[in-house]
Amino acid sequence: MFDFTPDPAAPKADLYKDLLAAADALTSGESDGVANMANVAALLAEFLPDCNWTGFYRMVDGELVLGPFAGRPACIRIPLGVGVCGAAAKSGETQRVEDVHAFPGHIACDALSRSELVVPIMRDGTVIGVIDLDSPDLARFDAEDQAGIEALAAMLSDRV
Ligand code: SME
Repeated sequence: MFDFTPDPAAPKADLYKDLLAAADALTSGESDGVANMANVAALLAEFLPDCNWTGFYRMVDGELVLGPFAGRPACIRIPLGVGVCGAAAKSGETQRVEDVHAFPGHIACDALSRSELVVPIMRDGTVIGVIDLDSPDLARFDAEDQAGIEALAAMLSDRV
């Protein structure tokens, strides 16, 4: 049994240090990408307060396709350049959106979502997927969240 217990009182930097250590322990040496994404989606839901969706989209034949996640059922296919995820996948750059209602083309999978962080996962200079976090709170994600999730995406590059 794995037992990773986040400390809700810990500073955010420590929270991400623990999250990365847990993700590393769960995914290192495991070659099945779906299993690794599933465990990391569950870890993200457990470690990050005030998130209503944590998960992955994978790049398949030039579009994003839903991967393992924790949260409500979500849209399955997202064309490149469409919505927050599509923008991240097309540009290869993190999208940190304080208010999704103000983001042109935002795809509302869960009407509760108000802010979103999408980080591309790169391998050999190519986007192979994205990590997507949604929150019902406005401006839930700050630069520390972005840095933490970017470090996670870098670690997962050859594990998903
Ligand atoms: N809101 C996203 C779609 C995915 S869901 O949030 C899970 C977007 O605009 O790309």
